[in-house]
Amino acid sequence: MAAGRGARLKSDGPKALEPICGRPMVEFLLNAARAFGARKTVVVAGHRIGEVRNFLNGSTALVHQKKQLGSGHAVSQARAALSGFDGSVLVLYCDTPLVTAKTLGELVADHGRHGTDCTLLAVESENPLGYGRIQRAADGSVRKIIEENDASAEEKKIREINVGCYVFKAAPLFRALGEVSVNAAKHEYYLTDAVGILAKNGKVRAVVASDREETLGVNTPSDLVRIEAMMEQKILNRHIENGVRIRDPKTTWIDEGVVIGAGTVVLPHVVIEEGSVIGKNCVIGPFARVRGGSRIGDGSVIGNFVEVTRSVIGKKTLVKHLSYVGDAAIGSSVNIGAGTITANYDGRKKHKTVIKDGAEIGSGTVLVAPVTVGRSAKTGAGAVVTKGKNVPDRVVVVGVPARKLKVRS
Ligand code: UD1
Ligand code: CA
Repeated sequence: MAAGRGARLKSDGPKALEPICGRPMVEFLLNAARAFGARKTVVVAGHRIGEVRNFLNGSTALVHQKKQLGSGHAVSQARAALSGFDGSVLVLYCDTPLVTAKTLGELVADHGRHGTDCTLLAVESENPLGYGRIQRAADGSVRKIIEENDASAEEKKIREINVGCYVFKAAPLFRALGEVSVNAAKHEYYLTDAVGILAKNGKVRAVVASDREETLGVNTPSDLVRIEAMMEQKILNRHIENGVRIRDPKTTWIDEGVVIGAGTVVLPHVVIEEGSVIGKNCVIGPFARVRGGSRIGDGSVIGNFVEVTRSVIGKKTLVKHLSYVGDAAIGSSVNIGAGTITANYDGRKKHKTVIKDGAEIGSGTVLVAPVTVGRSAKTGAGAVVTKGKNVPDRVVVVGVPARKLKVRS
């Protein structure tokens, strides 16, 4: 469910694409659904659907909700995409991105055990303001869900809220949605009203979430900040469990989807972004930024005040101090001297720098791309290797512009 605009986030774009730890919010739910083992996923989008379509890029079915007429209406739009499907349907809200595959598994297991038409995730909230309240009968069974706008003063005191994570039997779901009438206050068709309709037959259960952190929704800008901080912690914990040594988790930021090999040490004040892959036994930081899907081979060092972007670096290569490495392909056992810059941008286009195995780049070298430095070649301190003036294998160049000094034996 990703058609919402996120007006309360004070953001213009589709809420589903609001980034959390470098990845669009909706991706977290798709990952959870896939990890759970969902047979098919359908995304319902509306506001700025083109951007959502570009992001999904055919990876999942996409349904267009042309007008945002409410969460119930949104689910109805998926009916055709699910025609002929007669199993259980998980309904997830893209603005509840911390829900895990484990929780989905527990919800579906409960649904199966009790043969309900709907099992939904609930949580006891200290601050239920804005959420749907779960009204239970004396025997504990779910009666209905009351939205904030429709709740009486008494009902507003209910602290058990609807998280926005449900599993339904397909046929009763669509049948009940057909019976939902428009909400007078908001002019929307509520999914929660469909839950109330199913509850009349006593076939709805609300299961209390075992991890309350997972149930937080992203509704306000401060929710976004809080949830991102929680997600950051989860990501760090995952790497730590995988054997990455993170010296100071408080000053380490790693995007969702980054891969780091065991034995790698991440020193303080490091940012690792956008699907980068770092090998085993590397040292990253302190004060380093690895971005743009960079790949760093086993045993390499990315030291202080180094930025690496859209680059591939081989094994046991050292980039230890004050360097910018952009759009570069660097081999193995290369030494990049302090202050080396790949001048990759000519004001219009980005160009590539290639540095082959065993090369030694002197301190303060500027490599004006496109340019190649050959195997075991060497540049003197302060050399400026100009565009296209490739340095052949084992050749030493010095000066500005760099000229050949000798060939290494
Ligand atoms: C909803 C629930 C509320 C619950 C809360 C949990 C309803 C009516 N209420 O309220 O009980 O406590 O979530 O966070 O469902 N959407 C569409 N199309 C629409 C409207 C919504 O796709 O026309 C999607 C949104 O993108 C979002 C989800 O449905 O992912 C929920 O909509 P939202 O407007 O955020 O509902 P809440 O007011 O938060
Ligand atoms: Ca919401």
